Amino acid sequence: MLTIPTIKELRHHLQKEKEAGKTIGFVPTMGYLHDGHISLVNKAKEETDVIVMSIFVNPLQFGPTEDLDKYPRDIERDKELARSAGVTYLFTPSVQEMYPKPMRTKVVVEQITEVLCGLSRPGHFDGVSTVVTKLFNIVQPDKAFFGQKDAQQVAVIEQMVEDMLMPVTIVSCPIYREADGLAMSSRNVYLSDEERSQALVLSQSLFVAKQMIDAGERDASCMIKKVRSIIEEAPLAVIDYAEMKKYPEMADVDQLVSNEKYVIALAVKFGQTRLIDNSWFQL
Ligand code: PAJ
Repeated sequence: MLTIPTIKELRHHLQKEKEAGKTIGFVPTMGYLHDGHISLVNKAKEETDVIVMSIFVNPLQFGPTEDLDKYPRDIERDKELARSAGVTYLFTPSVQEMYPKPMRTKVVVEQITEVLCGLSRPGHFDGVSTVVTKLFNIVQPDKAFFGQKDAQQVAVIEQMVEDMLMPVTIVSCPIYREADGLAMSSRNVYLSDEERSQALVLSQSLFVAKQMIDAGERDASCMIKKVRSIIEEAPLAVIDYAEMKKYPEMADVDQLVSNEKYVIALAVKFGQTRLIDNSWFQL
């Protein structure tokens, strides 16, 4: 594995790989790697020859009161994990490398960014779509791999790629969970033991919602009421949102109907830590 901090050098290597007929798979991350990230690398290895992973904590996607400065980082540990997972090129640009001058251009995906995390984190998805566009332009991957853990992010990126005719295939990969159900996240390290054990209500509530659907429930507000009541059983949980949306448009839902795809999306704070989780349903 080569660790490469500059755009120029990465482009040089990838040009050679493309000339040799290799396909490029890309896994963008903000580092502090865990098995969720590694599951994307494993999927990329099944589908492409050369694996590029980026580690870049993107300032554009953090709000002024968010955790940019204290976002967990450990580049030496990340290098080791990426190497043993089979990453070919680890791209580790500095902020200066990615944003040498003030940006006067941004990529904005409309509508689907106006609910859920887009409401709670104004400007967040503009930062994501802008940095992902830059990263796609640097790497020019055949396929890029994203986790369903960030369901709205996948919808935003797919919309952007379709609207702007970006020549890349987006592959969305299942949520990777701890044995007890907690969705893996770099932010889980912030949780105290008490918060960590109460955070299980997220996956538990999604599991109950799935059981309700399997039992024939079709009323979205009835399911969301149940989901909220399960989360509220945890005294430390403060719900930011718990909603059911049509996927990928992220439109409101009243009654579930056949052949449509839905997502129940949750964002819940435990102390200072905001966790997200979701589950998809297709009737
Ligand atoms: P980050 O939070 O580091 O996540 C990188 C990728 O890993 C995303 O596609 C995310 O959905 C996926 N991922 C995280 N936890 C996962 C889990 N438990 N199971 C499966 N996949 C998981 O998402 C970002 O970074 C940034 O917004 C980025 C796309 C890199 C743009 O800056």
